[in-house]
Amino acid sequence: MAEKSYKLLEPLKVGPVTLKNRFVFAPMGSWYAPPDGYCNQRLIDHYTRMAKGGTALLIGEFLRVNDTDSAYAANMAILNNRYIYGYAELADSVREEGACFVFQIGHAGGNTRSDQIGGLTPISPSPFVNIDNELTREMTLDDINRVEEEFVATASRLQIAGFHGIEIHAAHGYLLSEFLSPRYNHRKDGYGGSLENRARMILEVYDKIRAKCGPNFVIGVRVNVNENFDGHMDGLTMEDVLSFAKIMEARGIDYISCTGADIINQKASVPTMYMTRGYNIANTYIVKKAVKVPVMVAAGMDVKIGEQVLQEGKADLIGIARGLVADPDMPRKLMEGRIEDIRPCIRGGIGCASHARFNKTLACELNPCIGNKSMEIMAESPVIRPKKVLVIGGGPGGMEAARLAAHRGHKVTLYEKTKELGGRLIEASIPDFKEDIRPLITWLKTQLQKENVEVKLGVEATAEVIKKEKPDVLIVAIGAEYTIPTEVSKDKANIMVPEEVTIGKKKVGEKVVVVGGGSIGCDLAIFLAESQKKNVTLSTRQDMVMKDYDEILTAISIWERLPAAGVKVKTGVTFKGFSGGKATFTDREGIDWQLDADRVIVSGGLAPQSDAAAKFDKLAPKVYKIGDCVVVGRIWDAFHTAWRAVLDF
Ligand SMILES: Cc1cc2nc3c(=O)[nH]c(=O)nc-3n(C[C@H](O)[C@H](O)[C@H](O)COP(=O)(O)OP(=O)(O)OC[C@H]3O[C@@H](n4cnc5c(N)ncnc54)[C@H](O)[C@@H]3O)c2cc1C
Ligand SMILES: Cc1cc2nc3c(=O)[nH]c(=O)nc-3n(C[C@H](O)[C@H](O)[C@H](O)COP(=O)(O)O)c2cc1C
Ligand code: SF4
Repeated sequence: MAEKSYKLLEPLKVGPVTLKNRFVFAPMGSWYAPPDGYCNQRLIDHYTRMAKGGTALLIGEFLRVNDTDSAYAANMAILNNRYIYGYAELADSVREEGACFVFQIGHAGGNTRSDQIGGLTPISPSPFVNIDNELTREMTLDDINRVEEEFVATASRLQIAGFHGIEIHAAHGYLLSEFLSPRYNHRKDGYGGSLENRARMILEVYDKIRAKCGPNFVIGVRVNVNENFDGHMDGLTMEDVLSFAKIMEARGIDYISCTGADIINQKASVPTMYMTRGYNIANTYIVKKAVKVPVMVAAGMDVKIGEQVLQEGKADLIGIARGLVADPDMPRKLMEGRIEDIRPCIRGGIGCASHARFNKTLACELNPCIGNKSMEIMAESPVIRPKKVLVIGGGPGGMEAARLAAHRGHKVTLYEKTKELGGRLIEASIPDFKEDIRPLITWLKTQLQKENVEVKLGVEATAEVIKKEKPDVLIVAIGAEYTIPTEVSKDKANIMVPEEVTIGKKKVGEKVVVVGGGSIGCDLAIFLAESQKKNVTLSTRQDMVMKDYDEILTAISIWERLPAAGVKVKTGVTFKGFSGGKATFTDREGIDWQLDADRVIVSGGLAPQSDAAAKFDKLAPKVYKIGDCVVVGRIWDAFHTAWRAVLDF
């Protein structure tokens, strides 16, 4: 498609500013700020990099309005005038890249923990027991007034520092959305009851900031449009959202940003790969139809969906958080007609959502240089003496290593023993609910072609092959193989491993037992129940499936999807064997227990191909082993170990 035909690239007036296109970097906590909230060089580099990619509007991450009861330790803050210098450098740097920059300002309300706010009790419109099991304290009128003034002081300092505006954070279960939502606001005074009353604090914050900062300062607001779901119907209704949007528009708000939900439906705010990409579009469209002020949609937006949303008039601005972290150059690549080069976010959350949960700095499973300027400079610097590089294995580790090495100027050949590139990603992306992984395989294949990597498919690399090739550098990325626990290996003839079903397409009968409650076992159980309509039982020796999975939103998606797919889950049982159509388990009391089954599939784990990998030791002056053949991990590990290896030579 020609450049001009993209609505995504059309300018838009938002209050006092004109945006050069419709791409917005949605607010995304980076945890790059030190605990006191000062703006440091890492933040300046990070946001400048986002702006360099061509995004028109950056919305800075949740910036707390005070240092007492507002939010988490590492949130940004501009608590007094001494903070301004760092923020002014940040604002200047982003402006120089041609982007507009507004900062989201907020107060966590009841959605924080006392140990994050110096031992104070979290405050909220009405008391409630929060997600950390703490009883919050109802705010007094003095509290309300104080926090409003803190919002104003924060906005004013940001204006002095040179930002184009602020976004009022009235979403995600933080303080102002608690006021707005009947789920949390049970006040009997002028701040509770009717929608007008519940919106009062937001309006007062808005009015005070507008009065202080004037008409040339952008003021937007972020609001939940998906608070009610499944059995939880006590949240903000769409009628409430519409009334709120109209009130804000009448007041003079410059844009309305529509997002997912509060803390009890967090996955609506940051939908995982198990959820539809356009999760918030329908409700955003309802808002869009009701107001004239620009409306932003977020969650799972990419170029294709964003463009469609704009073409269909369902929103004016496309908010993208994770997609721009995976590839900050998305807008620039679209402008240059290089859509195929955009690195696709897979919504796995390993690095962004998982890190945020544990107060770790923002990272990305696919883009190791997010927040790491020196790494990016190295990756983009051509090598002085190109080497002959041979990569063994065409999974994500081998492909990414080959891509990066070739990008830096090395001469690269990749051997893949099967007829197809992708490694375990092929198997991983078979279920439709994991389709986000498919564009990653396509992206890697395309980049190998563009970087002139010589790919030898259907050729197993052996010691003889390597000796003949005489590479300067050898990268071994041969992955891992499924294992069956020794205690049940006597029944091997009757037992399958997941790849035999997904890749091998072997028949499994009607009654299937999947053993293993990790992500691979859960995926397989859902896949068999949903798309093959099998009667599936999933067993685990743990007390729950997805136990200890570090990306909680993915775990929640799976916990919800298993029963919805009709999968029966048996916890606390150890698989003992399968014969005569009976799968035998022992429970925690040592009692044996049996289940009729046509087939048992053991998803007990994979073992690194360490012995096979060791055969390549010393076959080149430099040998690196990466990905699953060292330690079985995830795409994160394949990519990050690939980068470590390639940046080492
Ligand atoms: C069902 C399933 C679902 C998964 N889902 C996810 C997910 O959602 N998110 C996530 O982060 N991770 C997921 N993973 C894990 C992820 O796929 C792996 O961690 C990743 O693929 C490892 O990459 P790798 O390149 O090290 O190895 P692999 O992907 O295993 O690739 C190794 C490649 O080397 C080739 N090879 C082996 N020996 C030779 C040789 N001698 N010569 C030439 N070629 C050779 C193999 O054929 C293979 O193509 C999943 C894994 C599985 C099995
Ligand atoms: C690590 C992380 C941090 C986030 N921080 C914020 C934040 O500070 N304020 C906010 O309103 N939303 C925040 N969000 C939500 C995003 O703005 C966005 O709405 C969400 O990620 C869905 O959009 P996406 O699919 O483009 O990522 C965060 C999301 C992630 C993954
Ligand atoms: S870590 Fe995964 S979900 Fe997060 S931005 Fe990167 S690719 Fe997307």
